[in-house]
Amino acid sequence: MRIELCSVSKAYGRGQGRFWALRDATLTVEKGTHLAIVGPSGSGKSTLLHLLGCLDVPTAGEVLLDGVSRASLSDRQLSLVRRTQMGFVFQQYYLNESMTALQNVLLPLELGRVADRRAKAAEALRWVGLEHKLSSLPGEMSGGEQQRMAIARALAHGPALVFADEPTGNLDSESGNVVLEVLQALHDERGAGLVLVTHDDRVAARATQVLRVRDGRLE
Ligand SMILES: Nc1ncnc2c1ncn2[C@@H]1O[C@H](COP(=O)(O)OP(=O)(O)O)[C@@H](O)[C@H]1O
Ligand SMILES: [Mg+2]
Repeated sequence: MRIELCSVSKAYGRGQGRFWALRDATLTVEKGTHLAIVGPSGSGKSTLLHLLGCLDVPTAGEVLLDGVSRASLSDRQLSLVRRTQMGFVFQQYYLNESMTALQNVLLPLELGRVADRRAKAAEALRWVGLEHKLSSLPGEMSGGEQQRMAIARALAHGPALVFADEPTGNLDSESGNVVLEVLQALHDERGAGLVLVTHDDRVAARATQVLRVRDGRLE
């Protein structure tokens, strides 16, 4: 899968209050990509990631998914692309606190009626090193383990592209390192394209491509 941003801009608000969070961004990500997006707080990194992941709509410019304009796809088609081809990891883990690790990873697979979903969910948890925590609740796990659970959920369906927004932002340096190892392996071993927003120099150092964002512009 390939996502292209063609001169994409994003504004929030209207009239006098209108604010351009991203201006004239042109960028391609695909399977094989290992891109780190860096820049000061408020520079537009999350906005850029959301546009790449089709979680948000551009104000101007065009987004192409495998050459097809995003604007020509229905919400249903877009959510199908996200659910089958993309995975998302955020600074907050967005786990269901009343569900076990296995249930959390299983949930999106159930919504997508993915075949062999129990095996896929268990395999994903095993792959992130949580095979002994399948029946644990998020509240019984450390921050690093919860983030690995979120990564298992993002990878269980075999996405071509994984987007992560400050995935180590809430973690101490040691558990942050483990999470980074897992994300790196997602690219190296499972062949997923990886797009990481980060403040963390260690993350940028591992990426094959580093993109700086400043005041809504790509440098
Ligand atoms: N939903 C929104 N409504 C209004 N302004 C927003 C919204 N989301 C982000 N912004 C503004 O857009 C700018 C870029 O935000 P963001 O992409 O989240 O930056 P970063 O991730 O680099 O910290 C910031 O000034 C932020 O306040
Ligand atoms: Mg952000």
